[in-house]
This record gives sequence, structure tokens and C-alpha cells, in this order.
Amino acid sequence: MTKVLFVCLGNICRSPTADGIFRELVSKAGLDQKITVDSAGTGDWHVGKAPDSRTVAAARKRGYDLSVLRARQVKTSDFDEFDYVLAMDKANLADLQRIKPEHFAGHLGLFLEFGNRSDYREVPDPYYGGADGFELVLDLVEAAAEGLLTHIRQRLY
Ligand code: 4NP
Repeated sequence: MTKVLFVCLGNICRSPTADGIFRELVSKAGLDQKITVDSAGTGDWHVGKAPDSRTVAAARKRGYDLSVLRARQVKTSDFDEFDYVLAMDKANLADLQRIKPEHFAGHLGLFLEFGNRSDYREVPDPYYGGADGFELVLDLVEAAAEGLLTHIRQRLY
């Protein structure tokens, strides 16, 4: 089993988007029994809440249902559970590096390392911006999710 955790700040915009999109890709590839997917936030403000309504609406237009997801805060024990801990931006990554146990042998890095765009290394936070920010999140996440699945598949067989 390969376990993937996506992490952003609030766990209501970017990481739920990555969670829902990657989960869908894994399912379409018939790999639900081999890859598990989850998401969390470094902050605790939105714990227990559904994703932001703008995030849910933008994702729904592309055929993803994020409404069932609920926010939670990342915890140190996530490093014992997950093989890939993927941060949406450098601030999230720095926060994760601070709580990462020394024995963690998995991959901690930026999610967009698996993407195809040299102009974006981070997924920009759409929370305080307009509608185009949510579309950009979807574009970046869809591409990086494909790259991540290709990367993991090469290690599964
Ligand atoms: P996310 O976006 O990290 O992509 O879930 C945010 C959501 C909420 C806040 C910041 C970013 N906030 O400050 O409440």
C-alpha cells in the first residue's frame, strides 16, 4: 500500500482539491487497493468543516465531488502513516519539516515537483482572491496529480 497525504494551510481549498482529484485518478486506474489518499491542514481553524464552497463549486464543474471531505489538522503521527507527504506551498513545507520525526523514511516535498509547469513551484492560496484563483488551483493540481500517479506506478510494478 502506498499512502499519500496532501497538506495546505486550512485544508478547505488546495489540499481537498488535490485529495479529490488524485483519489479520482487512482480510482479510474483501478488502484484503490494499492494507493490511499488523504489531506490535512497545518492550521486548525477549519477542523471538521467541509471544503470552501467556492472550491467545491469549481471542482464540481470539472466532475469532482469534494463535498464529502472534512478538514483536519496534520499531526506528527501522520509521518508514521503516510509514505508521501506533499505540501502545497513552501510555508506548508517548512511547517511540516518542523514536526517531521527524524525516523521518517518517506517523501516530504512540494506537490508541484510532480507537475509539468516551470512557472509554478507552489499552488497559490486562492482563499482571499477571485474565481480565477480556484481555476488555477484545479489546473495545477490536475497536472501534478497525473505526474504523481505516473511516479507511484513506476514504483508499484
Ligand atoms: P487552503 O486555503 O490552505 O488552500 O485551505 C486557506 C483556507 C483558509 C485560510 C487560509 C488559506 N484561512 O486563513 O482561514
